[in-house]
Amino acid sequence: MLHLALESRLQAAVTALYPGIVVDSIRVRPASDSKFGDYQSNALMALARERKVNPRQLATDVVARMDVTDWCEPVEIAGPGFLNFRLRPGALESVLQAALVGEHLFFSVTAPELRRTVVIDYSSPNVAKPMHVGHIRSTILGESLSRVLRLLGHRVISDNHIGDWGTQFGMLLLGWKTMLDAAALDADPIGELERIYKRVNIGCKEQPETLERARAELVKLQAGDEENLKIWREMIRLSQVQFDTIYGRLGVRFDHTLGESFYNPWLPEVVSRLLELGIARESEGAVAVFSDGTLPQKEDPFLISRDGEWVANPALIRKSDGAFNYATTDLATLDYRLRTWSPSEIIYVTDGRQQLHFRQVFQAFHRWQPQAATAVRLTHAWFGSILGEDGKPFKTRSGDTVKLADLLDEAEERALRVVLEKRPDLDSVAQREVARKIGLGAVKYQDLLPNRQSDYVFSWDKMLALTGNTAVYVQYQCTRAGKVVRDAGVLPAAWTSGPALCLQEPSELALARHLLSFGLSLEAVGDECRPNLLCNYLYELASLYSRFYDSCPVLKAAEPARTTRLALCELTARVLRQGLDCLGIEAPESM
Ligand code: ARG
Repeated sequence: MLHLALESRLQAAVTALYPGIVVDSIRVRPASDSKFGDYQSNALMALARERKVNPRQLATDVVARMDVTDWCEPVEIAGPGFLNFRLRPGALESVLQAALVGEHLFFSVTAPELRRTVVIDYSSPNVAKPMHVGHIRSTILGESLSRVLRLLGHRVISDNHIGDWGTQFGMLLLGWKTMLDAAALDADPIGELERIYKRVNIGCKEQPETLERARAELVKLQAGDEENLKIWREMIRLSQVQFDTIYGRLGVRFDHTLGESFYNPWLPEVVSRLLELGIARESEGAVAVFSDGTLPQKEDPFLISRDGEWVANPALIRKSDGAFNYATTDLATLDYRLRTWSPSEIIYVTDGRQQLHFRQVFQAFHRWQPQAATAVRLTHAWFGSILGEDGKPFKTRSGDTVKLADLLDEAEERALRVVLEKRPDLDSVAQREVARKIGLGAVKYQDLLPNRQSDYVFSWDKMLALTGNTAVYVQYQCTRAGKVVRDAGVLPAAWTSGPALCLQEPSELALARHLLSFGLSLEAVGDECRPNLLCNYLYELASLYSRFYDSCPVLKAAEPARTTRLALCELTARVLRQGLDCLGIEAPESM
C-alpha cells in the first residue's frame, strides 16, 4: 500500500545516490507516534554507518532525490537521520477512493515472482482419540495463518499430520477384538474406541500377559496382517468422520491429510542414510542422533545441562525393537514435503512442549541435507496452554479433558442466551444463526488474541463480553458500519460518480489512517506467525469507528461530509469483515 509505494520511492532515491547497492533493508514503517507523522524510516542511519558518511548529510542527499509531493508534506529529517512522512489529506482520500471502487482493500497481493510456497502443518489430532481443547489452538492458529498468507497471494499448502500410527494401535486392536461393544461403536465411535483403549491400557499395566498380546497385535499390524490392517483403517475412517464434523463447524479445510502412516515406507531408508552419514549411531540396541559438536553448547538440541555439565540428549530414530519414532517420521515428512512442493517455508503449529522435538528434527535435517535445508525456512510456531480459571490446565468439573465438540456446543448455547435477551424480535432460526457466529467467534478470538506463546485462562464471561477486546465487539461494529450504508441505500455506482471525498474531522482522519495500515498488519501476521497482531488491529479499528460514529453524524450530514462518512462506514465494514474472515470468524449481517 502507500507505505510500500513510499518505500519504493525511497529505495529509488537511494539507488540514484549509490547505484547498484542492495536496498531491501530500506523500509518505511508506520510512525511509532503520530506526532512524527504517518510513516517513518530509520534505515538511512544504518546505511550511513555502512558507507561511513554523515547520516544527516546522507538523509539530506536522499530526500533531495525523492519526489513524494503527490502524497506527502515535505519530508522531515529528524534527529540523527530519521525520515518522517506526513500524508496529505488528498493522498488519504485518493487511497480511500481507490478502495471504494474495489482496486484494493488496503493490502497488496504479492507479485507472482515474489509469491512463496508455504506448507502449514496444523491441527494434527490423533486417531481413535477425541479432539480436545489442546488441538483447538493448533487448528485455529494454523487456519488463521493459512488464510492470511493466502489472502496475501502466497501458495499455501495445508497438511493435517494426523497421528494414525504408533504403539497405541496394539492396544486398540486387542480391545477391538476382545471387548468391542458394537452398539456403542455405532452410537459414539470415538467414545467406544477411547473406552477400549483405556481398559486395555489398564490391563497392560496389571497383567504382563495383556501387554504381550497387545504387542503381538502391533507386530502383526506392522507386518501387514490383512485383518489388523482392515480394523486399523476402520478406526481411521471413524476418527476422520469426527474430525471432519469439527472442521466443518470451524470452517477449516485442509489440502492434504497425510497422516504419520503415509511415511512408513521411507522410515528404514531415513535411518540407514543417517547411519551411513554418521549423523546417527547405535546405542544400546537403538539408533539415535547425537550432537556433532558444531553448535555452541547452549544452542545444541542434542545436549542438555545436568548439574552444570553438558551431557548427551540424543533423538531416538529407531527403538531397540525395530520400531521407529516420532522424530523419524518427521524427518521423512520434511524430506517428502521438500521433494514434493519445494516450499520456501514450512510452519509447524503445535504446543510448546514439542520445542525440543522440532529443534532436534530441524538440526538433524540440516546435517542430513544441508543444501535443501538452507533453501527453506523451518518455523515452529508454538503456543502455550489453555488454563482453567484456577490457573491449572483446563479440565471439566469432573477432571476430564474438555472435548472440543462439547466446548463448541456450550459456546453456541451461551451465545444464544445473550441473543435471546438482546434480540427477542428475531425469529428463532435467525437467533440461532447469530448465536452460532458469536459463540464460535468468541472461542476463536479468545484463542487468537493472546500472544500465542503465553498460556491463557479460558473464561466464558470474558470471551462473550459485549465490550472490550472481544470478537463480539468487533463483529458488532462491523454490523453497525454495514447497516449505516444499507440504510442509506447507497448503490455501488455511487462510489464512482458521487462527490469527491473530503476528510476533515480528527476522528475521520484517524479512522482513515488506520484503514490504510490493514496490509501492514496482515504482513506482520504472515512474517511472525502471530494472528494476535490482527486481532489488535481490528479491535483498534472497531474502537476508532465507534468514536467516529459517536462524534460525526452520517446520514444527516451535508455533502461532501455525508458521502465521505458513508465511505468510511463502508470501508470499515469491508476491512472488519475481511479481517475477521482471516481469523476464521464470520460477521453476522445483523445482530
Ligand atoms: N499428532 C501430534 C500431537 O497431537 C502433532 C503433530 C504435529 N506435526 C508434526 N509434524 N509433528 O501432538
